[in-house]
Amino acid sequence: MEEAIVQIIPSGKTLGATIEGLDLSQPLSESDVDQVVATLGRYGVVRFPKQTLTAAQQRAFSARFGELEINVAGSFQEPGLPEVMILSNIVENGKPIGIGDAGQDWHTDMSYNRMIAFSNVLYGIRIPHRDGKPLGATTFCNMHAAYEALPEDMKQRLDGMTVLHDFDKFWEMMRRERGSTRPPLTPAQRAARPPVSHPLFLEHPITGRKVLYANPGYSMRINELPQEESDQVLDFLFKHQLQERFFYKFEWQEGDVLMWDNMGTIHKAVDDYRADEPRLIKRCQVMATRFFDDGGQPRRRHAMAA
Ligand code: SIN
Repeated sequence: MEEAIVQIIPSGKTLGATIEGLDLSQPLSESDVDQVVATLGRYGVVRFPKQTLTAAQQRAFSARFGELEINVAGSFQEPGLPEVMILSNIVENGKPIGIGDAGQDWHTDMSYNRMIAFSNVLYGIRIPHRDGKPLGATTFCNMHAAYEALPEDMKQRLDGMTVLHDFDKFWEMMRRERGSTRPPLTPAQRAARPPVSHPLFLEHPITGRKVLYANPGYSMRINELPQEESDQVLDFLFKHQLQERFFYKFEWQEGDVLMWDNMGTIHKAVDDYRADEPRLIKRCQVMATRFFDDGGQPRRRHAMAA
């Protein structure tokens, strides 16, 4: 059988590339997996167009990159496949089929977890359009570039410091600010996700360069600073990381699989579509288990790292 030629086409922007020539419904070779990992490190956000996947195939593809998270919020999972979450505003027989407001503010998935996230793998099944234009984009900011653009004295002063991240922060923000139908987390759900700390400047396991690893969704405070100073610094960093020069907008087409590197980016889903404009996306969350052990220590470096 003839092998497909894999092509990597950079977006030419601060983030983003398209990989053509891979059929994600079929098992990938080890070298294809390595190439996808390297592309994620380099471009942060990777699109695989024109895919047709069952939920089981999406799970199998995602699992090639690390262990998969089963979301603590629990609802809206694909029947029999709890690693595949349904993100949707569609209501059938009076019941939502998916979580309708996932990710609609700036955050990094699973920075609240002891084992942080490597990648999200989203499969776009129904994408809303209006006047011929796609809606419900996913937007990103580049955290390699955000770190590099920090003032030198700040990089030095904050080097080695850690940030406390809490799952409940984003959950409550969505409930409060969006008037969402999310119930408060139960004590058991909160206990399953105690706040955790990670380095503020993380050495990226693929590129070997530092990234700014803080996000408005989950980051609570810088542990080594007094509260007031921590609030000021985080406020500065949250504004800094959202600058236009670090920004990239991904516009969906049906059949796209989108993967992104959660360590080198932050993201936000744009809620510019109405209830009668259906959006259906299925998502797997890949933990960074290929890079870190349970104690958060690096396992190995990818070839791109120095
Ligand atoms: C997410 O934050 O994983 C959801 C992104 C999206 O639905 O565009």
